[in-house]
Amino acid sequence: MNILNFGSLNIDFVYSLDHFVQRGETITSRDLQIFSGGKGLNQSVALGRAGISVYHAGAIGEDGQFLLEVLKGAGVHTETVRFVRQERTGNAIIQKEPSGDNCIILYSGANRTITRQHIDETLALFSPGDFLLLQNEINDIAYIAEEAHKKGMTIFFNPSPMDENIFTVPLGCIDYFILNEIEARQLLDCQDNSMENLPGKILATRLLDRFPYAHFVLTLGKEGAIYIDKDGSIEQAIYEVPVVDTTAAGDTFTGFFIASLTQGLSVKQALDRATKASAITVSRIGAAPSIPTAEEVDNFILSS
Ligand code: RIB
Repeated sequence: MNILNFGSLNIDFVYSLDHFVQRGETITSRDLQIFSGGKGLNQSVALGRAGISVYHAGAIGEDGQFLLEVLKGAGVHTETVRFVRQERTGNAIIQKEPSGDNCIILYSGANRTITRQHIDETLALFSPGDFLLLQNEINDIAYIAEEAHKKGMTIFFNPSPMDENIFTVPLGCIDYFILNEIEARQLLDCQDNSMENLPGKILATRLLDRFPYAHFVLTLGKEGAIYIDKDGSIEQAIYEVPVVDTTAAGDTFTGFFIASLTQGLSVKQALDRATKASAITVSRIGAAPSIPTAEEVDNFILSS
């Protein structure tokens, strides 16, 4: 069984600020750090560092060459990443507060230059039963999901960042959704204010009512996470750590959850391992560089 992650590759510019910039305000950053990032790249790095063989597909401009080295360094296959001459690599402007919280502005760049030919040629390398992982930072995810479903691939979808593009995807084809509370509410019904304060468990049940054949991992911030499918639900608490930077915490969780399932762990074990991995990520600065290895995660209790 092979895993394909068709997703974004970004250069992250991280500005450390006392507070997020307000309308009309000009503030000076204490410093600027540049990291490899993008939800796609981060999740491939997490899968790779968790010990899984993963193929990353996506697009970069000439300024993004170093991102390939980051992927390769995590053991990720990069033959299906394409160079585009006419665009720069996707990038993110990340404002980071001392609390570790962030605000992100994305420029898609090469991430939105994926062609149908690239998609078809990439999917041709995979077989029924292989896994496909998707996020929402590249173009044409609806076509990728449709074609992968026709092939009989198992589809994991992290609908992030959430926007109207998500609703072009044939959501009935998705086997696993990995999403946070805000994304869950938007997926269910953007207009429905009654869902504003729903407890996570009820939100998870609503998701399952809407897509009864899917599996859901709903992350709930400080409340941990809930897994639900037609056979039942499992709850997972967080591990408290000093927070330095929350960037890529969700990506780390996604990568380690999928990796752990493919390595034969139970859902309960996979949730626990993914939670430990993301706790390590938030205790470090940056996106991809903050993602731990399997060894660090499996020694987490001893060292914490
Ligand atoms: O999930 C974190 C990522 O979101 C960052 O690395 C940034 O590139 C944005 O895509």
